[in-house]
Amino acid sequence: MGIVNIGKIRIEDPLILAPMAGTTTPAFRSICHGFGSSYQPTELVSARSILYSGIDKSYCYLMIDREAEGITCIQLFGNEPSDFEYAIGRICEDERLSFVDIIDINMGCPVQKVVKTGAGSALMRDPVLAEKILKASLKVCDSYGKELTVKTRIGYDAEDSRNGKAEDFIRRISQTGVKAVAVHGRTRDQMYHGNADIDALQRMKKASEDGNIPFIANGDIKDTESARKMLKETGADGLMIGRAAQGNPWIFRELKDVYKEKDGICGKITFEERKEMLLRELSLTMKYKDENIAVREMRPSMMAYIKGMPGASELKVKLCSALTYDEVKEIL
Ligand SMILES: Cc1cc2nc3c(=O)[nH]c(=O)nc-3n(C[C@H](O)[C@H](O)[C@H](O)COP(=O)(O)O)c2cc1C
Repeated sequence: MGIVNIGKIRIEDPLILAPMAGTTTPAFRSICHGFGSSYQPTELVSARSILYSGIDKSYCYLMIDREAEGITCIQLFGNEPSDFEYAIGRICEDERLSFVDIIDINMGCPVQKVVKTGAGSALMRDPVLAEKILKASLKVCDSYGKELTVKTRIGYDAEDSRNGKAEDFIRRISQTGVKAVAVHGRTRDQMYHGNADIDALQRMKKASEDGNIPFIANGDIKDTESARKMLKETGADGLMIGRAAQGNPWIFRELKDVYKEKDGICGKITFEERKEMLLRELSLTMKYKDENIAVREMRPSMMAYIKGMPGASELKVKLCSALTYDEVKEIL
């Protein structure tokens, strides 16, 4: 069994849903939690926009269904320590969000729009600023009793990943007082291409041991075999699963026993079950959004559920023109 302590939060056999912009909505997160994900960070939210535009503007990304999600986590990005200080304090003072358990700082987003502002992956190239951000964030997190974690990558580029720069980075940030690090086994330059680099993750795990905090490995975990390989070869304390959960929240049930020797339940999910889950996610989304908006925002998720079904391309076109729950149901 793998027990992980993220500060005062104790998690048994951690399987974490990776934050994914546009996918990890409250509806999807609560479904994944129902199948066994330990916690589910929100997608990345700009610390600066909370400061400049107020929390209500960002609330659609921050909202969490506390009852349905178990341990709760908000992910923030930015490049200015005082923005984080303000945003975390503001979240902790907001009666709709003050229960949040974990604040995660994004230091891995590869998107140009984010990187060019010095945020996301760019922070791997500026460890001094990354430390300042973490120290400022820790001060606020500590005062509100929240845990602070970081999600990053195995380096900015292949050179950093090979020459020890990425290891120095993780060694430094894991000694700041953050309570866990999650690392995606690709460099920023790789974006989502190529395979997750298990050896690099193993080196990052070793380097993080100086901070004596849990190391969560991420990248290409898609079934029991890849999950066990990741645990065994990197020595990670926990696993984070992203794309393999899209349209397949059952993966958390399938991976339930990866920390033990026996195998989890991995019966084949039928097309009928996938359609039902799609409708369930849509009706949950409608709890938070107007019907038309919910249907439109669910499009990427709908595509993931129908992937591989007979007639999927025809279904895709029809689903993309649907605007109501009943239309989606009828099409399915
Ligand atoms: C559509 C999409 C959106 C993503 N959004 C975020 C995000 O908001 N924050 C973040 O830290 N990572 C984000 N990621 C990266 C994932 O969290 C994860 O690190 C990556 O997909 C690798 O894991 P996987 O191979 O299990 O998918 C995103 C990935 C995808 C595919």
